[in-house]
Amino acid sequence: MARVTLNAVQRLYGTIAVPGDKSISHRAVMLNALAQGQATITNFLDGADCRSTVTCLQALGVPIVQHGETVQVQGVGLRGLQEPALLLDCGNSGTTLRLFAGILAGQPLFAVLSGDASLQARPQRRIVEPLRQLGAWLDGRSDGNYAPLAVRGHALHGGSYTLPVASAQVKSALLLAALSGDAPLTLTGRIDSRDHTERMLQAMGAQLTTHPEHIVLYPPAMTADASLQSLSLRVPGDPSSAAFWWVAAAIHPNAQITTEGVCLNPTRTGALDVLQAMGAAISISHTRTEGCEPVGDVTVRSSHLQATDIRGSLIPRLIDELPILALAAACAQGTTTIADAQELRIKETDRIAAVAEALSAFGSTVSSHPDGMTITGHPAGLPHGATVSSLGDHRLAMAWAIAALVAPGATTIQQADAVAVSYPAFWAQLKQLDVDVTIGD
Ligand code: S3P
Repeated sequence: MARVTLNAVQRLYGTIAVPGDKSISHRAVMLNALAQGQATITNFLDGADCRSTVTCLQALGVPIVQHGETVQVQGVGLRGLQEPALLLDCGNSGTTLRLFAGILAGQPLFAVLSGDASLQARPQRRIVEPLRQLGAWLDGRSDGNYAPLAVRGHALHGGSYTLPVASAQVKSALLLAALSGDAPLTLTGRIDSRDHTERMLQAMGAQLTTHPEHIVLYPPAMTADASLQSLSLRVPGDPSSAAFWWVAAAIHPNAQITTEGVCLNPTRTGALDVLQAMGAAISISHTRTEGCEPVGDVTVRSSHLQATDIRGSLIPRLIDELPILALAAACAQGTTTIADAQELRIKETDRIAAVAEALSAFGSTVSSHPDGMTITGHPAGLPHGATVSSLGDHRLAMAWAIAALVAPGATTIQQADAVAVSYPAFWAQLKQLDVDVTIGD
């Protein structure tokens, strides 16, 4: 399936069980692979990115079996990974490549990590440089900036590192590398990205302390336990997937959608804060804790959105939601500015250029800047439908499907199969909401 065509709809009502969180799914299987004991992960995200992680773990000799959304992992311990015979294919997944670079840096083995054309074009110096500072040996094209990345693991020393960008992939790669070391690691600087790795490591017994200004990890080898304990868990729903439905309901004139069991970790709820500031009718119910994460049901109704400013410390809390929030801005009263979001240029695509181009195709008024964009909204909905491409980027395919619901005329999305990366059930759930989705080749 390469092309999907859909039209604006009269009404949009329903309840959606969003798939498991992508970031937590990756970490749940990686960390349990390094633990002692057996774990069962439920509501695992059965998407292409997380499948890449499972396949890489199998190639590293971890007994791990996936049956759809249930995964069973037999931990091999911090020193039990085996040297892989083949290249570790991370597909489209930056999290897989960067977190494995950290895990493997301190293991006594040689491995090569690579992925698809998009992943091979994404910069890796951000992990290679700090890992080298911990004593790791990694290399790749352009002095280690691009995959394929070769890792010759060996003993690492601890130390301290100041994160220059708020990236959970960089932060996690360093924490995972330090796990196999024999000296503490202190991280300072931009540690304000999603904190799922920290929460899960603490729940598995690691000596990790978090403070507003720094994080300190004492490797298990330095502690009485000397290992991580396995942790069975249910993965909460992905707020980055739920955000498509939140914006759909907010911008549509006749809508109410409930997303159930969504992760409400404060490092991930920036999109809810922005939609609330824009005047969206949002209610949160049934709040609870699942595993190491706060969870709740989120209901959004048709709203009259006002423009807003999205910048600064908000950005890491909603980085993956910026394409769909740009659509919300395109349907709001006034001019919205997104700034400090230069990280968007190095995601699965250059999401600043791609969002500006696609929103313009829908008749929106957008200008792009090096670190963001300015969008003047049409509160009555987008001027017209469009033919746009996802450019192979899952989040763009879904954002333009939601745009189609408020754009008069037909919209065609090329490379629509990209949704399989994080949300394979997306088209089926859109149909559940009575949207007429025509799938072509
Ligand atoms: C992720 C971190 C973010 C995010 C990505 C998933 C993670 O990337 O955009 O989709 O699971 O750690 P950065 O670490 O590059 O900000």
